[in-house]
Amino acid sequence: MALPFSKLIAAFRYTRTLVGFDNHFVALLLCWGKGQQSPIHDHAGASCWVKMLAGDLEEVLYDRDNDGKLVKVKRTLFSAGTDDDV
Ligand SMILES: [Fe+2]
Repeated sequence: MALPFSKLIAAFRYTRTLVGFDNHFVALLLCWGKGQQSPIHDHAGASCWVKMLAGDLEEVLYDRDNDGKLVKVKRTLFSAGTDDDV
């Protein structure tokens, strides 16, 4: 049985595939395998919207404390069929 493209790719490693763009947005297909994660990053003030196509995703938000160290401030679980601003 053939796997869908996104599951086949995600079985090996995290991927980011450009699926469209113009002067106002960039659309990416992001695939993670089970247990994979993205490094801590920010979006430099850009808006971000997520549409989960399959599986579950945990997002962890961080802020900096007075010493400049990262501290976890929020966890959100996204599931297939949901979408949200992140
Ligand atoms: Fe991100």
